[in-house]
Amino acid sequence: MSLKNCYNFEDFRKLAKKKLPAPIFHYIDGGADDETTLKRNTNSFDDCDLIPNILRSVGEPDLSTTVFGRKIDMPIFLSPTAMQSLYHPDGDKASARAAEKFGTMYSMSTMASFSIEEIANISSGPKLFQLYIHKDKSFTDDLIDRCKRANFDGLCLTVDTLVAGNRERDHRTGFTTPPKFTLESIMNFAIKPGWLFRYFTNKKFELANIKHKTDKGTNITKSVIDYVNEQYDPQMNWEDAEYCIKKWDGPFALKGVMSVEDAKRAVDIGCTAIIISNHGGRQLDGSRTPFDQLKAISDAVGDKVEIILDGGVRRGTHVLKALAAGATACSFGKAFLFSLGAGGQQGVERLLQNMHDEIRRNMILMGCKSVKELDRSKIIYRN
Ligand code: LAC
Repeated sequence: MSLKNCYNFEDFRKLAKKKLPAPIFHYIDGGADDETTLKRNTNSFDDCDLIPNILRSVGEPDLSTTVFGRKIDMPIFLSPTAMQSLYHPDGDKASARAAEKFGTMYSMSTMASFSIEEIANISSGPKLFQLYIHKDKSFTDDLIDRCKRANFDGLCLTVDTLVAGNRERDHRTGFTTPPKFTLESIMNFAIKPGWLFRYFTNKKFELANIKHKTDKGTNITKSVIDYVNEQYDPQMNWEDAEYCIKKWDGPFALKGVMSVEDAKRAVDIGCTAIIISNHGGRQLDGSRTPFDQLKAISDAVGDKVEIILDGGVRRGTHVLKALAAGATACSFGKAFLFSLGAGGQQGVERLLQNMHDEIRRNMILMGCKSVKELDRSKIIYRN
């Protein structure tokens, strides 16, 4: 099995599983509690069918759209995800470079293992920063100021992680940041010598954006669950979101909006976008899925804000269905992390190429010349 045999999500997942130590693979792959929402995120796309139109001289379809003030060449981009250098030593550098090559957006997590400045130095492509509000509010100002100086295009505030979801796989494997090599865990790593070699011969792992504020997660080993529960502010509220919007003063999204009511309030406080997401099924298990909520949210606020659909996207047809239901674009996390683990920048490029080709091919088959033509007339919900 190699990168050139990776045609779909499952292929990249299998290759990543072969290369990554179990605690790291399961950190990407897992969800909360019984992983019901995790599974349903993808399955919900099957409750809706595409209706193609014929004989429309489609030619070469235009896949581009605009998010956070930047035109992107395909209507899907990389979700913000933590600690990417655990999946490949080039981590965020590999994803940012691959995204730029495909003219799409790279997103950086507060918990990234490369810094805002390091990524700004290597990429002039569209860049979104994801903010977690810590109990120590000085994190917020520091991160927003640095993103401004580094010319990031947009900011999103994650609102679905006041406490950590119950990720039982991480409890079982003992996943920590940085990885802990104990008598109990060592076999998991020893059987992946390629990963171990790369881990110890590259830049030391760190939470690069916040290491000057806390040693936790960089020099003090923590499980992600403990980090979140100790550091993030569970009292976060709408005033905090408004504070970020004013301070940032640019394209801004709340990430983790799931209800129509909250989507309307996001518009009222000045969001330019919302990211419908349940954090990849990693937080509230039993939560409805982003695709199930998309239609109602789009009916309520679709003419006022950009809507990003994040969750369960694995195929070009999922993107087409989301756009037809009202999304401006989609984003994906797990799919691209597996491609990063499977082959670094080359892996992410192969994934983006596959996605581009799937979206293009299916738009032609749908009879759509541009993403604007993907509207409700192109889908039917089964019930
Ligand atoms: C996670 C957090 C760190 O989902 O975003 O693991």
